[in-house]
Amino acid sequence: MSAAPPTPFFSPAAERNKQPLLEALQTLLPPSGDALEIASGTGQHLEHFSAQLPGWRWQPSEFEPERRAWLLQLRQSWPKEQQQRVAEALALDVSAQPWPVEAEAFDLVFCANMLHIAPWACCIGLMQGAARALKPQGCLLTYGPYLEDDVVTAPSNLAFDADLRARNPVWGLRRLADVQAQAQQAGLHLAQRLAMPANNLLLVWRRLQA
Ligand SMILES: C[S@@+](CC[C@H](N)C(=O)[O-])C[C@H]1O[C@@H](n2cnc3c(N)ncnc32)[C@H](O)[C@@H]1O
Repeated sequence: MSAAPPTPFFSPAAERNKQPLLEALQTLLPPSGDALEIASGTGQHLEHFSAQLPGWRWQPSEFEPERRAWLLQLRQSWPKEQQQRVAEALALDVSAQPWPVEAEAFDLVFCANMLHIAPWACCIGLMQGAARALKPQGCLLTYGPYLEDDVVTAPSNLAFDADLRARNPVWGLRRLADVQAQAQQAGLHLAQRLAMPANNLLLVWRRLQA
Protein backbone atom coordinates (compact mmCIF):
# COMPACT_ATOMS: atom_id res chain seq x y z
CA MET A 1 0.00 0.00 0.00
CA SER A 2 1.42 3.42 -0.91
CA ALA A 3 1.75 6.16 1.72
CA ALA A 4 -0.88 8.92 1.80
CA PRO A 5 0.11 11.90 -0.39
CA PRO A 6 1.58 14.81 1.61
CA THR A 7 -0.98 17.53 2.25
CA PRO A 8 -0.15 21.09 1.13
CA PHE A 9 -1.55 22.15 4.53
CA PHE A 10 1.49 21.22 6.57
CA SER A 11 4.08 23.55 8.04
CA PRO A 12 7.45 22.14 9.17
CA ALA A 13 7.90 25.27 11.34
CA ALA A 14 4.55 24.70 13.10
CA GLU A 15 5.56 21.10 13.69
CA ARG A 16 8.78 22.27 15.37
CA ASN A 17 7.28 25.06 17.46
CA LYS A 18 3.98 23.48 18.57
CA GLN A 19 5.48 21.71 21.62
CA PRO A 20 7.51 24.72 22.93
CA LEU A 21 4.37 26.81 22.44
CA LEU A 22 2.21 24.30 24.30
CA GLU A 23 4.66 24.28 27.22
CA ALA A 24 4.50 28.09 27.37
CA LEU A 25 0.69 28.03 27.24
CA GLN A 26 0.66 25.52 30.10
CA THR A 27 2.58 28.00 32.27
CA LEU A 28 0.66 31.12 31.17
CA LEU A 29 -2.96 29.98 31.03
CA PRO A 30 -5.47 28.83 33.63
CA PRO A 31 -6.62 25.19 33.28
CA SER A 32 -9.78 26.11 31.36
CA GLY A 33 -11.17 28.86 29.17
CA ASP A 34 -12.34 29.95 25.74
CA ALA A 35 -9.78 30.66 23.02
CA LEU A 36 -10.06 32.36 19.65
CA GLU A 37 -7.29 31.46 17.23
CA ILE A 38 -6.52 33.97 14.50
CA ALA A 39 -5.01 32.62 11.26
CA SER A 40 -5.33 28.93 12.19
CA GLY A 41 -3.51 28.08 8.94
CA THR A 42 -2.65 24.38 8.71
CA GLY A 43 -4.37 23.58 12.03
CA GLN A 44 -1.24 22.02 13.56
CA HIS A 45 -1.29 24.34 16.59
CA LEU A 46 -5.04 23.90 17.00
CA GLU A 47 -4.70 20.12 16.82
CA HIS A 48 -1.89 19.99 19.38
CA PHE A 49 -3.32 22.51 21.83
CA SER A 50 -6.88 21.15 21.75
CA ALA A 51 -5.55 17.63 22.39
CA GLN A 52 -3.22 18.66 25.23
CA LEU A 53 -5.29 21.38 26.96
CA PRO A 54 -8.55 19.51 27.61
CA GLY A 55 -10.07 22.32 29.70
CA TRP A 56 -10.00 24.78 26.80
CA ARG A 57 -12.57 25.35 24.07
CA TRP A 58 -11.24 26.65 20.74
CA GLN A 59 -12.75 28.86 18.10
CA PRO A 60 -10.39 28.63 15.11
CA SER A 61 -10.53 31.15 12.29
CA GLU A 62 -8.94 31.49 8.90
CA PHE A 63 -8.93 34.05 6.09
CA GLU A 64 -8.42 31.65 3.17
CA PRO A 65 -11.41 29.43 2.18
CA GLU A 66 -9.19 26.46 1.15
CA ARG A 67 -7.56 26.45 4.56
CA ARG A 68 -10.97 26.61 6.27
CA ALA A 69 -12.06 23.55 4.27
CA TRP A 70 -8.85 21.79 5.32
CA LEU A 71 -9.45 22.68 8.98
CA LEU A 72 -12.92 21.10 8.78
CA GLN A 73 -11.44 17.93 7.29
CA LEU A 74 -8.68 17.81 9.90
CA ARG A 75 -11.16 18.23 12.77
CA GLN A 76 -13.16 15.24 11.51
CA SER A 77 -10.08 13.03 11.96
CA TRP A 78 -9.86 13.72 15.72
CA PRO A 79 -11.42 11.81 18.61
CA LYS A 80 -15.00 12.90 19.38
CA GLU A 81 -14.09 14.57 22.73
CA GLN A 82 -11.46 16.69 21.02
CA GLN A 83 -13.86 17.64 18.20
CA GLN A 84 -16.37 18.78 20.81
CA ARG A 85 -13.85 21.27 22.19
CA VAL A 86 -13.22 22.86 18.78
CA ALA A 87 -15.77 24.85 16.78
CA GLU A 88 -15.87 25.06 12.99
CA ALA A 89 -13.35 27.63 11.70
CA LEU A 90 -14.79 31.10 11.21
CA ALA A 91 -14.12 33.17 8.10
CA LEU A 92 -12.24 36.06 9.70
CA ASP A 93 -10.24 38.81 8.04
CA VAL A 94 -8.28 40.23 10.93
CA SER A 95 -8.23 43.69 9.34
CA ALA A 96 -12.05 43.93 8.98
CA GLN A 97 -13.81 45.27 12.07
CA PRO A 98 -15.79 44.18 13.92
CA TRP A 99 -14.76 40.52 13.90
CA PRO A 100 -17.69 38.09 13.62
CA VAL A 101 -17.50 37.13 17.31
CA GLU A 102 -19.18 38.37 20.49
CA ALA A 103 -17.44 41.16 22.41
CA GLU A 104 -15.64 40.10 25.61
CA ALA A 105 -16.21 36.39 24.86
CA PHE A 106 -12.66 35.00 25.05
CA ASP A 107 -10.04 34.38 27.72
CA LEU A 108 -7.38 34.03 25.03
CA VAL A 109 -6.79 35.30 21.51
CA PHE A 110 -3.89 33.37 19.98
CA CYS A 111 -2.14 34.44 16.78
CA ALA A 112 1.04 32.78 15.49
CA ASN A 113 3.11 33.87 12.52
CA MET A 114 0.65 36.24 10.93
CA LEU A 115 1.95 39.75 11.57
CA HIS A 116 4.97 39.46 9.26
CA ILE A 117 3.10 37.63 6.46
CA ALA A 118 0.25 40.11 6.13
CA PRO A 119 -0.08 43.85 5.50
CA TRP A 120 0.43 46.26 8.41
CA ALA A 121 -3.37 46.79 8.51
CA CYS A 122 -3.54 43.27 9.96
CA CYS A 123 -1.48 44.36 12.98
CA ILE A 124 -3.82 47.29 13.57
CA GLY A 125 -6.79 44.96 13.10
CA LEU A 126 -5.38 42.30 15.40
CA MET A 127 -4.97 44.73 18.28
CA GLN A 128 -8.38 46.35 17.82
CA GLY A 129 -10.18 43.05 17.29
CA ALA A 130 -8.49 41.34 20.23
CA ALA A 131 -9.22 44.28 22.53
CA ARG A 132 -12.93 43.88 21.69
CA ALA A 133 -13.02 40.06 21.76
CA LEU A 134 -11.16 39.55 25.06
CA LYS A 135 -12.78 39.29 28.46
CA PRO A 136 -11.41 41.96 30.84
CA GLN A 137 -8.76 39.65 32.31
CA GLY A 138 -8.05 37.81 29.05
CA CYS A 139 -4.84 38.00 27.04
CA LEU A 140 -3.69 38.13 23.45
CA LEU A 141 -0.69 35.94 22.63
CA THR A 142 1.30 36.66 19.50
CA TYR A 143 4.13 34.43 18.34
CA GLY A 144 6.77 34.95 15.71
CA PRO A 145 9.96 36.88 14.89
CA TYR A 146 10.18 40.63 15.64
CA LEU A 147 12.70 43.43 15.25
CA GLU A 148 13.63 44.89 18.65
CA ASP A 149 15.43 48.23 18.93
CA ASP A 150 17.64 47.08 21.81
CA VAL A 151 18.30 43.49 20.72
CA VAL A 152 20.63 42.49 17.89
CA THR A 153 18.52 40.79 15.21
CA ALA A 154 19.67 37.25 14.44
CA PRO A 155 21.12 36.83 10.92
CA SER A 156 18.48 34.17 10.21
CA ASN A 157 15.72 36.68 11.00
CA LEU A 158 17.35 39.38 8.82
CA ALA A 159 17.49 36.88 5.95
CA PHE A 160 13.85 35.89 6.58
CA ASP A 161 12.85 39.57 6.56
CA ALA A 162 14.62 40.17 3.23
CA ASP A 163 12.99 37.07 1.75
CA LEU A 164 9.52 38.15 2.91
CA ARG A 165 9.94 41.66 1.49
CA ALA A 166 11.14 40.24 -1.84
CA ARG A 167 8.03 38.03 -1.99
CA ASN A 168 5.67 40.86 -1.07
CA PRO A 169 6.76 44.44 -0.30
CA VAL A 170 4.02 44.87 2.33
CA TRP A 171 5.26 41.84 4.29
CA GLY A 172 8.24 41.80 6.62
CA LEU A 173 9.26 41.40 10.23
CA ARG A 174 7.54 43.97 12.41
CA ARG A 175 9.33 46.36 14.74
CA LEU A 176 8.13 45.51 18.22
CA ALA A 177 7.93 49.20 19.19
CA ASP A 178 5.49 49.79 16.29
CA VAL A 179 3.38 46.81 17.34
CA GLN A 180 3.37 48.14 20.91
CA ALA A 181 2.15 51.54 19.68
CA GLN A 182 -0.80 49.87 17.90
CA ALA A 183 -1.55 47.81 20.99
CA GLN A 184 -1.60 50.94 23.12
CA GLN A 185 -4.04 52.64 20.74
CA ALA A 186 -6.34 49.63 21.14
CA GLY A 187 -6.05 49.69 24.94
CA LEU A 188 -3.57 46.81 25.29
CA HIS A 189 -0.01 46.67 26.56
CA LEU A 190 2.88 44.24 26.38
CA ALA A 191 2.73 42.40 29.72
CA GLN A 192 5.32 39.66 29.10
CA ARG A 193 8.01 38.72 26.57
CA LEU A 194 9.11 35.10 26.33
CA ALA A 195 12.10 34.13 24.21
CA MET A 196 11.30 31.02 22.17
CA PRO A 197 13.46 28.68 20.07
CA ALA A 198 14.81 29.84 16.69
CA ASN A 199 14.82 33.54 17.65
CA ASN A 200 11.07 33.81 17.98
CA LEU A 201 9.11 35.58 20.70
CA LEU A 202 5.88 34.75 22.45
CA LEU A 203 4.33 38.04 23.54
CA VAL A 204 1.57 38.42 26.13
CA TRP A 205 -0.71 41.44 25.63
CA ARG A 206 -3.23 42.51 28.27
CA ARG A 207 -5.67 45.34 28.78
CA LEU A 208 -4.03 48.54 30.03
CA GLN A 209 -6.36 48.74 33.04
CA ALA A 210 -6.30 44.98 33.85
C1 LIG B 1 2.40 31.68 7.89
S1 LIG B 1 0.68 31.37 8.07
C2 LIG B 1 0.60 31.05 9.82
C3 LIG B 1 -0.40 29.98 10.12
C4 LIG B 1 -0.35 29.43 11.55
N1 LIG B 1 -0.85 30.40 12.50
C5 LIG B 1 1.05 28.99 11.92
O1 LIG B 1 1.68 29.57 12.78
O2 LIG B 1 1.51 28.00 11.32
C6 LIG B 1 0.01 33.00 7.90
C7 LIG B 1 -1.50 33.03 8.10
O3 LIG B 1 -1.96 34.37 8.07
C8 LIG B 1 -3.26 34.34 7.49
N2 LIG B 1 -3.68 35.66 7.05
C9 LIG B 1 -3.17 36.43 6.07
N3 LIG B 1 -3.88 37.56 5.94
C10 LIG B 1 -4.88 37.50 6.86
C11 LIG B 1 -5.97 38.36 7.21
N4 LIG B 1 -6.17 39.52 6.56
N5 LIG B 1 -6.79 37.97 8.21
C12 LIG B 1 -6.60 36.81 8.86
N6 LIG B 1 -5.59 35.96 8.57
C13 LIG B 1 -4.76 36.30 7.57
C14 LIG B 1 -3.11 33.34 6.36
O4 LIG B 1 -4.36 32.89 5.88
C15 LIG B 1 -2.30 32.25 7.06
O5 LIG B 1 -3.13 31.32 7.72
